[in-house]
Parts: sequence; C-alpha cells; structure tokens
Amino acid sequence: MKIQRVGVIGCGLMGSGIAQVAAQAGLRTVVVEASAAALQAGLQRVDKFLSGGVAKGKLTAEQKQATLSRLTGSAELEAIKDCDLVIEAVVEDLRLKLDLFARLDRLAPPTAIFASNTSSLSITELAAATGRPARVLGLHFFNPVPLMRLVEVASTIQTSPEVETTVLEFARTVGKTPIRTRDKTGFIVNRLLVPYILDAIRALEEGVGSIVDIDHGMTLGCGYPMGPFTLLDLVGIDTTYFIANIMFEEFRERRFAPPPLMKRMVLAGFHGRKTGKGFYDYGTEPPRPNDFLATAPADH
Ligand code: 3HC
Repeated sequence: MKIQRVGVIGCGLMGSGIAQVAAQAGLRTVVVEASAAALQAGLQRVDKFLSGGVAKGKLTAEQKQATLSRLTGSAELEAIKDCDLVIEAVVEDLRLKLDLFARLDRLAPPTAIFASNTSSLSITELAAATGRPARVLGLHFFNPVPLMRLVEVASTIQTSPEVETTVLEFARTVGKTPIRTRDKTGFIVNRLLVPYILDAIRALEEGVGSIVDIDHGMTLGCGYPMGPFTLLDLVGIDTTYFIANIMFEEFRERRFAPPPLMKRMVLAGFHGRKTGKGFYDYGTEPPRPNDFLATAPADH
C-alpha cells in the first residue's frame, strides 16, 4: 500500500507542520481542526513558513503555490473519509483522543491507517478505541516539523508489519529519517530529552545558574542547537508539562516529575513563544529572560 491521501487532525504547531510536509511531498492533504481560529492560525503558519523558504531560496513561488493547492483545511472530521493515512496531532488528552479514534474508525475507509503523533500516551490504548488495532501505530514528529529530520515510528504488539513498512515509507516520502521504536511511554527521544529539560528547570529553581547561563552552558559547552529553556519555549511549556505528567504517571520516577515552577508557569499562561512569554519574553528582539523569573525575593 502506498499513501496518497493524508488527513491530519489538529492544526496546532505539530499538526500544521505535519500537514505542510505531507503537502510539500506531493500528497493531497486535509487538515481538520475544530476551532476556526486555530485552523486559520495553523494555515497562516504554513503560508509564512513557505514564504520564508521562498525568501531563503529553498523553494520557488510556484512550489509554494503547488503545496498550498494540495493542502485544504476543514472543520469537519468527515473530511478525512477518503484518506489512506490519518495522523492525529491534537493535545495530549487521553479522553479526547480515545473519542477521536472511535469517531475516525466509523468515518475512514477500513483500509486506512491511523497514526498518533502522541509522544507519551499509549498507542495500544488508542488502538483499542478502534476496530482496526493492526492498522494503528505511533508516528512522532519533532518541532519545528518542517526542519527536524527525525520521525519515530512506534509499533504496538498488534501493529501489522505491512502497516509499519507503509508508514516507514511515508516518513521517507515526506523527507524524514524514521527510527523504529516500541509503544513505550516517551519512545526513544522523550525518554532521554524530558528528564534533561526538567533537570534544567530544577537547576534554575535551585539557583545553579540563570536562564541565559544554563542555555549557554548547553549550546556553547555541548554544541546543542538550543539551550533547554529556548527549547522549552519552542515546544511549549504546557505541552512539555502534559508529557512529563504522563511519563511520571507511567514510570513513577522523580526524573519525570514536573518541577513546581513548571506548573506555576503553565497556570500563569507562560507557555513559551506561542503565548509571547515563557522562560523568555518575546516582546523584545532579541528576547530577554522573563522578568517574573528574574525577580527573586530579596535576601533579609
Ligand atoms: N523554509 C525552508 N528552510 C528554512 C526555513 C524556511 N522557512 N527557515 C529555516 N530554514 C532552513 C535554513 O535555511 C537552514 O538551512 P541550512 O542548514 O541549509 O542553511 C535551516 O533551516 C536552519 O534554519 P536557521 O538557520 O534559520 O535556524 P537554526 O540554525 O537556528 O536552526 C533549528 C533552527 C533547526 C530549530 C535548531 O535550532 C534546532 O535544531 N533546535 C532544536 C530543536 C529540537 O530539539 N526539537 C525537538 C524538540 S522535542 C519534540 O519536538 C518532541 C515533542 O514530543 C516534545
């Protein structure tokens, strides 16, 4: 089986990026998003990224138009009814995803493959909400999707080998290098990455270093492309918080426990770039460390 029509559910940071790379690879793609505002914002993000690519000489204006002509947005889940592959990329909420997979199962052709971009929830549990567990697997992209070359392909003990092969091929078609993993919470990358970024927050809480110095420590000292706080702001502090909670629930190990500061930042709406403030404040160029975090109680 070769994937020709792709459906993406959710047009947030990840969903819009996944829809973009599928359309760029020549595949007819529909992205479904319940909120009209989120759909609009996501499609604008794609347009902006492609325009940036044209400005950088990475693609032509014609290629941009051709990509956009293959990409449609819809507020109706029925829009995926002809898709060969449906990729779910909604928020990390198990109940929401279970309901979604059950509805997709009723709408999509019986041959369609369902993939979830979840990085922490159980694919086996999502598959159980459908009548086609052999055709369900994890397909985990990285942020920013159009630039990051990796994708994790996570099979469950029920996923059929043919489905895995088809999806590995799809990943290559959209320009990614797939790595194979099993349905274990966090897969390969988040199992290693999440404890590292949570430790950076703990180091900040404990006064080991400032936001900027910890970021510089990892970029200049270890050659990482971004420090942990810049990365947290990119991925979303709320998203990382959800992931950490799910991983903590699964493994019950302190290394996955979200630090108290993280919870407070999520409650305060400091979610990172998407809300204008996270560990950095994006109201200025270059962004500066968030004032709130710099203001520690005075010593007495
Ligand atoms: N169109 C086409 N190409 C573009 C582009 C555009 N709009 N914008 C940038 N590019 C290209 C650039 O031209 C450049 O290409 P080149 O290497 O051929 O010159 C390349 O993309 C890098 O772009 P920039 O030079 O503008 O930016 P940086 O060098 O600063 O790299 C980055 C940006 C790729 C995001 C890099 O900082 C990075 O790798 N950061 C780490 C991101 C990361 O770790 N992501 C994973 C997060 S974890 C996750 O997502 C999992 C989830 O479950 C939490």
